[in-house]
Amino acid sequence: MVRNFFILLVLLSNLMLAQNKLNLIPYPQKVQLLEGEFVIPEIFVLSGDLPKEETEYFKKRIGSQLKFQYTQKGGEIHLTNSIIPPASGTDAEQKKEYYLIEISPKQIHIKSYTKQGYFLALQTLIQIIEQYKEEKKIPAMKIEDQPKFAWRGMHLDVCRHFFTVDEVKQYIDYLAMYKLNTFHWHLTDDQGWRIEIKKYPKLTQIGSKRKESMIGAYVDNTFDGKPYGPYFYTQEQIKDVVKYANERHITVVPEIEMPGHALAALSAYPELACTQGPFESATKWGVFDDVFCPKDETFTFLENVLDEVMKLFPSQYIHIGGDECPKTRWKECAHCQELIRKNNLKDEHGLQSYFIKRIEKYINSKGRKIIGWDEILEGGLAPNAAVMSWTGVNGGIEAAKAKHFAVMTPGAYCYFDHYQGDPQSEPNAFGGFTPLDKVYSYSPIPAELNAEQAQYILGVQANLWTEYILDFKQVQYMIFPRLMALSEVGWGTSDPKNYKDFEDRVISHFKILDKMNVNYAKSIYNISGKVIPSNNGIAYELSTSQNPNGIRYTLDGTVPTINSKTYQTSVSIPNSLTVKSAYFEDGRLKSAISSQQFTVSKSTGKKITLEQQPSENYSFGGAFTLVDGIIGNVKQLGKTWLGFQGKDVVATIDFGQKTDFSEIYFNTLENKGSWIHLAKSAKIFVSDDNKDFKIIMEIGKEDIQNAKGKIQLKLDKQNARYLKIMIENAGIIPSGNPGADSKAWLFVDEIGVN
Ligand code: ACM
Ligand code: ZN
Repeated sequence: MVRNFFILLVLLSNLMLAQNKLNLIPYPQKVQLLEGEFVIPEIFVLSGDLPKEETEYFKKRIGSQLKFQYTQKGGEIHLTNSIIPPASGTDAEQKKEYYLIEISPKQIHIKSYTKQGYFLALQTLIQIIEQYKEEKKIPAMKIEDQPKFAWRGMHLDVCRHFFTVDEVKQYIDYLAMYKLNTFHWHLTDDQGWRIEIKKYPKLTQIGSKRKESMIGAYVDNTFDGKPYGPYFYTQEQIKDVVKYANERHITVVPEIEMPGHALAALSAYPELACTQGPFESATKWGVFDDVFCPKDETFTFLENVLDEVMKLFPSQYIHIGGDECPKTRWKECAHCQELIRKNNLKDEHGLQSYFIKRIEKYINSKGRKIIGWDEILEGGLAPNAAVMSWTGVNGGIEAAKAKHFAVMTPGAYCYFDHYQGDPQSEPNAFGGFTPLDKVYSYSPIPAELNAEQAQYILGVQANLWTEYILDFKQVQYMIFPRLMALSEVGWGTSDPKNYKDFEDRVISHFKILDKMNVNYAKSIYNISGKVIPSNNGIAYELSTSQNPNGIRYTLDGTVPTINSKTYQTSVSIPNSLTVKSAYFEDGRLKSAISSQQFTVSKSTGKKITLEQQPSENYSFGGAFTLVDGIIGNVKQLGKTWLGFQGKDVVATIDFGQKTDFSEIYFNTLENKGSWIHLAKSAKIFVSDDNKDFKIIMEIGKEDIQNAKGKIQLKLDKQNARYLKIMIENAGIIPSGNPGADSKAWLFVDEIGVN
C-alpha cells in the first residue's frame, strides 16, 4: 500500500512541522514542507479549466475572505489543476480519492485522478488557507494523500426526531468538510415514516405522525403530550438532497427498516402485520413486538417501496435495517409457522434470514446490493450482503471471515448519541460514555482478522440516533468534535499515542466552527473527577487534558470563579458535600461546571470485596464503586453503577474495627427495555472474624418492588466489624419482556451504612 512508504516521510516531516504545524483534520498521509512561501494574493486568479462545481464550492466556502477571478489567458495563475483519469480496474477504485497538492511560491497546483480527488484536495486547501490567512502567506509544501478506508460514513436518524432539508444539507456539509463520503439516512422506524412513497400515500399521511413523545430519562416513562408530525420528505426534496450530496461527492445510502422497527408502517398498513392491529406509531423509544409478517403481500409492498427508493437513490448499497426484530409475533403466527415448516427453516431466526435473503434477491435483481445491521447474520447471511457491525465488532469479524464486506460502527466507539463528557455536566443523552479520545482510539480493523480478511472491512461509520436530540443545535453538539475523530480514523492517519496533537488541532478548528455558528461540545475542556481511597475515607482527584493550573473548585456549593481555590492535589472529602469545579484559561471560563455530590457514610472508603466481579462494560471502578460516596444517577449507567449480568452481588465491607450502625441503603435499577431488572431479594449478615456470619435482615421481591429499587433498611442496633450484603439477580428474563430467556442485568450503585 502507498501508506507504508509514506511512514518515514511522515516522521521526517513531523519533525519539520514542530515549528510550522499544520492544523489539518484528517491529517494527510504525507506532508513535506519546502523552501519558501506562497503569498496569498489580493485577487486569487483561478485557471479557467478548473472543474466548475467543485471550484464554485471552494469559492463559496472561503469567498468572504478572498477575492477570486477566473482567467483563460497565460500570466499569473494561483490555482491550477490537472486531472488524469485513472486506468480502469481495482487501481482506479483506489485512486478515486487520491490527490496531490503542491504549494510553491508561485502557485498552488492540484493533481488528482478524479473530480472527487480534486474536491478532497480543495477541502485540505480550505483548511490551510484558514490557518494562514492572517499571516497572508502559506509555507511551500507538498501534500500527497488518499484515504485508507473507502466507506467513511455518518448516519442520521430522522425518525425519532425530524430534521428539515436545510438542516440535512448542513449535516452533509459537515461530512464534506471532514472528507467523509457516505451519508446513511435512517428514514423509517417505529416512531415515524419519513419518506414519501407515491404508491402508498398512507405511509406519510398516517405513519409520519405520532401522538406524543417520550421525554426525559427512559426510566421516568414521561411524555410531552404534544402531537408530533406530520414530518416527512417529499420525493422532490429527497432528489434535491441527493443532488446536493452528490455535488459534494457524498453517497447517500437510504435505510428502510425491516422486518422490525416497522410500527409506523404498520400504523398505515396494519394488514402487513401478523396480528390485526390497529397499530400506532410508537411514542416511546425501544424495541416493539409488532413487526412485518413475512407474507407475500408484505414482500410485494416492500418491493414496491424499494422500487421508488432505488429510483431516488443511486447508491450501490441499500440499507434494509434488520436489527432488533423480536420474534414474539412470528412464534404465534400460523402463517409464519407454516412458512418455517414449508421452507425447512430451523426456527424464527431462520425466518429472519429467509426474509432478508428474499429482499436481497429482489434488490440484487435491480443491480444493487444490501447492507444491514449485524443481526442479519442471524440464521445465516444472505449471499451478497454487507454487514454493519454495531453491537460490537463480532458481526464485522464474522462477515469478513465469510468474505462479506463490513462497515464497522461498534457502539462503544461510534455511537454519537452517547455522552461525550461527565453526564453531570452534559445535556441529557441516551447513556453510554464515548468521549473524543475514545472515538479517536478506535481502530476499524479487528485484530482477529488476517490481511486478506481485513480487506473486507470497507470502513467505519458513526451513528446519530435522535431519541434525545430534539433540535439541530443538539445534533451539532453531539457530532462535534467527535466527527473530527471519526474523520481521521476513517482516513487512516489517527494514532491514539498522538491524541494530544489531535486535540490541539481540534481546538484550532473550533475557530472555524465558531464562524459557522456551530454549537459544538466543549466537553474536552471539562474537568474529570476520580474518587480514591484515602485515610480510611475518600479523596477526589480532578484532572483536565488542558493546563492543570487552570482548575478552580469550591466545596460550599457555590459556582467556581477564577478566584476560587486553585486545584493542587486531591481534595479530601470528610463529610457529605458537593465539589464544583471548572477550567479557566486566560481568565475566562472554558468548560462546563462539573458538580459531584458526595454522600459520606460509615462505609465510605472502607475496604470492600466482591465474590463475583461485575461485567466488563459496567465495572467502572470495581468493588470500590460501591463505597465511593457517589449515589448512582440514572443518567450515568456505566459510570457510577456496577452491572452484573446473570450474577448476584455478594459484597463484604470491612470497617477496620467494631462499628455501631443501624441503617443500610443501596439502589438497584429497573429498565426492562435494556434487560435491567430489580433484584429478587437481599440479605444482610454481620461478622467479627470474616468467617462466621449471622443473618440480621432479609427482604424479598415485593419489598424491593414497593421501594422501586431504592432500598433503605432500618436495623436493630448493630456492633460489628464486617458487613456482608447479598443482592440476588432476577435471573432469567421471563417471557413477554425484551430479552426474554436471556440473563437479566442487576445494577447496584452504593452501599451506605449509618
Ligand atoms: C441499532 O442501534 N439498533 C442499529
Ligand atoms: Zn406472521
